[in-house]
Parts: sequence; C-alpha cells; structure tokens
Amino acid sequence: MSSGTFISFEGIDGAGKSTHIARVAELFRQAGRAVVLTREPGGTSLSEKLRELVLHEPMDALTEALVMFAARREHLVQIIEPALARSDVVLCDRFTDATFAYQGGGRGFNWQVLGQLERMVQGLPDGSLRQPDLTVWFDLDPLIAAERLASARVPDKFESQPADFFAAVRAGYARRQAEMPSRFARIDAAQSIDAVSAEVSRVVSDWLQGVAA
Ligand code: TYD
Repeated sequence: MSSGTFISFEGIDGAGKSTHIARVAELFRQAGRAVVLTREPGGTSLSEKLRELVLHEPMDALTEALVMFAARREHLVQIIEPALARSDVVLCDRFTDATFAYQGGGRGFNWQVLGQLERMVQGLPDGSLRQPDLTVWFDLDPLIAAERLASARVPDKFESQPADFFAAVRAGYARRQAEMPSRFARIDAAQSIDAVSAEVSRVVSDWLQGVAA
C-alpha cells in the first residue's frame, strides 16, 4: 500500500476552488511534505492534449466519458501512483467525482457505466479502487457561480452551459457524497474567500489529525 496523501478538490465551475488549492499546498509544505499539484483532465503531456480536445470539441457522451477516463488512466499511472508511492501529497484539482457530476449528473450519462469505467481505470492490484483519501467539495448555488463566471475569461465547453446544467452537476456531486460520505468534506463556497480558506484549512488539519490518531 502507498503511504502518500491524496486529496481532490471539486465543485461546479465558478465555485472558486483554485485559490484554495495553492493555500493547502503551502500548509503541507510548511509541515515538510513534498507536494504534487496537479489537475484533471490533464496532469501529463498526453492528458493535457486530451484536455484540450474534451474542453473544446463537441463529442458524443460516451466518447466524452471515455476521454475523461483515458486522461485519468495516464495521470494515475504516470503521476499519481508514483507520487503516492514516494509518500508525497497529491493535490488534484478535480478527479473522478467530476466525471460522475458532469458526465453523469450534467449530461445524464449512465451512472452504472461510469462505475464500470471507474473500476477499470482505478483498480489496484489488491482489488481495491484508488480514490482520494479526502475530497474537498466547494458547494455553491449555480446562480451565484454564474455571476462569478460572467466576469471571468472566455468560457469553455462546460463553462458555457446553462444554469440548469450546473444544478444537475451539483446534484451529481451530492449523490457522490451520499454514496461515499466518509471521504467528502462539503464547504459552503458562498462565504467570503477568507472564510472559505479558513474552513478548508480546518477541514484538512482535522482530517490529518484523524489520520494520525
Ligand atoms: P476546471 O477544472 O474548472 O479548470 P479551469 O479552472 O482551468 O477552468 O475545468 C475543467 C472542466 O472540465 C470543468 O468544466 C469540469 C470538466 N470536467 C468534466 O466534465 N469531467 C471530468 O471528469 C473532469 C475532471 C472535468
């Protein structure tokens, strides 16, 4: 078994997770841990190419799910598993919960088929599944997220979806949390940046203490 720490960060577009990931990285570095900051889709040269395609080209729903998992497989094999084997901390901006939320919830793609792909891609030699140890979910009302995004850059394929798509994505995250409550920490992302930041630090510190106990 690996002894690293794997934390993922999730939420609908506009929930503001990126700022907080950098702060969590700093927390771990201060504690003397080596940190690998990465993202999905992406994280390897090939997976970043797949990211470009999947964020900008229209495609069939199954194709989209397969590309997400193909990019994830490369990322796991090349980056995540080696880092965990070195006992590093892996901080990943989105992971499989995003596929269940966006492709499953948002697009309405079959949840069970996603589960099959998940088992195929994240299966470990001992028969268990690679999952984040902790998933920080920045939960936000899609209408507030849309207001935040309106002032941001040119939207990609997902960011340009209507609010009801993001309501379905949010419901997808909630369903995932209900299925695997022990690794999820839900944060109310409607709070101020400082309040969210303080809560993220508290969640990560509490979780680390729980692991050490
Ligand atoms: P995002 O993580 O928000 O990056 P940025 O901050 O650069 O916008 O963008 C990734 C997009 O991809 C986001 O809209 C969610 C989507 N996505 C999926 O639809 N399925 C997935 O499995 C993953 C990982 C992401």
